[in-house]
Amino acid sequence: MGLTVGVDIGGTKIAAGVVDEDGRIVVDDVRDTPATDPAALAATVGDLVDDLRRKRDIDAVGIGAAGFVDASRSTVLFAPNIDWADEPLAARVHELVGLRVVVENDANAAAWGEFRFGAGADVDDLLLVTVGTGIGAGIIHAGQLYRGGFGVAAEVGHLRMVPAGILCGCGQYGCWEQYGSGRALVREAGDRIRAGITAAKPLADLAGGDPDAVTGPMVTEAAQAGDPLSIDLIADAGSWVGQGLASLAAVLDPTTIAIGGGVAAASDLLMQPVQEAFVRHLSAGSSRPHAELRLATLGNEAGLVGAADLARIP
Ligand code: BGC
Ligand code: NA
Ligand code: ZN
Repeated sequence: MGLTVGVDIGGTKIAAGVVDEDGRIVVDDVRDTPATDPAALAATVGDLVDDLRRKRDIDAVGIGAAGFVDASRSTVLFAPNIDWADEPLAARVHELVGLRVVVENDANAAAWGEFRFGAGADVDDLLLVTVGTGIGAGIIHAGQLYRGGFGVAAEVGHLRMVPAGILCGCGQYGCWEQYGSGRALVREAGDRIRAGITAAKPLADLAGGDPDAVTGPMVTEAAQAGDPLSIDLIADAGSWVGQGLASLAAVLDPTTIAIGGGVAAASDLLMQPVQEAFVRHLSAGSSRPHAELRLATLGNEAGLVGAADLARIP
């Protein structure tokens, strides 16, 4: 099989690209996600694929979707941040483009992309955790993507971190992604601006004075420019991430953990607190070997590249 299209459907953007067998993106495109209209969303994916097909011949389509994807890799059972319920995404897109369509969870697709072409290219086992709007993960074991019994393994963003904590889009309280994600950064930054504290002035300026206009990338930008509050907010999120990883290590005993997703753009500002909290909260502490933490290397393209590659595998 030659070229395939990979599509990464997130809560705000849909990215699509033609990818070759070495994981290189030949041509790509991006649209806004119609997150509240499943038919319009499928139509947008169909349009993107049609546009890309005019530029290159393609054999199949792989879609990474930010939600719970069933074992047959065709239906999105549920998504915390997109209005999908039992969404027959593969069938809808197949009807529009007439090609084979494989749907995979976005973080699983990103894990596959990093394993094949990125941060995990030198290992046989990889745990990738994506820290973006939500928290997702993909587990590669012995060179294979681990999907669980129903297709929804590694929904780690919904590990309970805080009993009776913040309400999550999944319907439960206190999930990890309410504390260690881009969403948490935005919430905490907005709260500081609303409270009118002096330290929040740089962030307020970036957001044009509107606490609801703060974005994750704004906090990262401010932190990288040296804003102490933004550095603290990212460190807090990182600490939550590290604590969650320590719990994951108790289940999976990974040797390599890669951190990807939008928040990972903060690099050391995030990774150092992650590393510290991970080691501090690991059961048996220094009496056991522990995983090497790495930054993912494919950035925002991991999901698209991984989905395109998965579409090559029958
Ligand atoms: C969803 C996962 C997804 C993750 C990252 C979570 O809220 O439940 O399916 O992989 O966000 O997008
Ligand atoms: Na996953
Ligand atoms: Zn949840």
